Amino acid sequence: MLSRLNQFPRIPYGPLPTPLEPLPRLTRQLAGPQVWVKRDDGIGPGMGGNKGRKLGFLLAEALAQGKRKVATFGGLQSNHARMTAAACAQLGLEAHLFFFEKRPSSLQGNLLLDQLFAAKLHFIPFGGGGNASMTLEQTNRLVKLVARVMAGRSLYFMPVGGHTVTGCLGYVEAALELQEQVEVLGLERVTLVTAVGTGGTLAGLLAGFHLLQSPIRLLGIDIGKLWKAFPASIARLASALCAALGEPHTFTPADVPMIEGTYAG
Ligand SMILES: Cc1ncc(COP(=O)(O)O)c(C=O)c1O
Repeated sequence: MLSRLNQFPRIPYGPLPTPLEPLPRLTRQLAGPQVWVKRDDGIGPGMGGNKGRKLGFLLAEALAQGKRKVATFGGLQSNHARMTAAACAQLGLEAHLFFFEKRPSSLQGNLLLDQLFAAKLHFIPFGGGGNASMTLEQTNRLVKLVARVMAGRSLYFMPVGGHTVTGCLGYVEAALELQEQVEVLGLERVTLVTAVGTGGTLAGLLAGFHLLQSPIRLLGIDIGKLWKAFPASIARLASALCAALGEPHTFTPADVPMIEGTYAG
């Protein structure tokens, strides 16, 4: 798997591997199993965050295709959009960020940073999905069309959260990293709990742990209740990742370890 993974070009955002750190006070407070945190918040660029793993693969693909414009979308305070804006500024690419909401009266937080990173901001106050009326794939197809109309045909389009096979290779790599760390630390009966927004992180980890035959269990917590038939989309992406890495495997929605909806919002 590693040799296949290494064939995909990537921009090495890091530093990798990110540390796996114990949280002794939280562990004491919860009086349950040991709690550790994987510090993906330290991955650059643009003030960091877990999306750097996906961006490294996605933007390397954009450069390899000779694209000069990159378009993506998300919520107004999207970390994925902010990191995309920063990375594009660094690479000399033009970032187009689409938000399916009204332009706020003042740009704050990540929106302000998006602007400082010279991204072109497009506010369209209707129809960008994310209310469980469409699947993730339908939403991405619709927004890709809008982006092409508004920013030109020759652009590299990144779905919300970098949710593609190319992007989510970053989380197959994270699975490898984690498996090694868990072995070195001698941790047993490990369950990895992750937030689920677009499901790319979960799909990458699911495919990665499957390919590694890892004993690490996974639990995703859906934070948004955003997409119709969400487990099916995650299963399709995890299956496509295994195929891209030369070891086909079909995941079904029932294989996706996610608590959907309960904690959303
Ligand atoms: C820290 C963190 N982990 C995981 C995720 C899940 O990302 P996704 O499901 O879009 O891959 C997010 C989403 O924003 C996040 O902020």
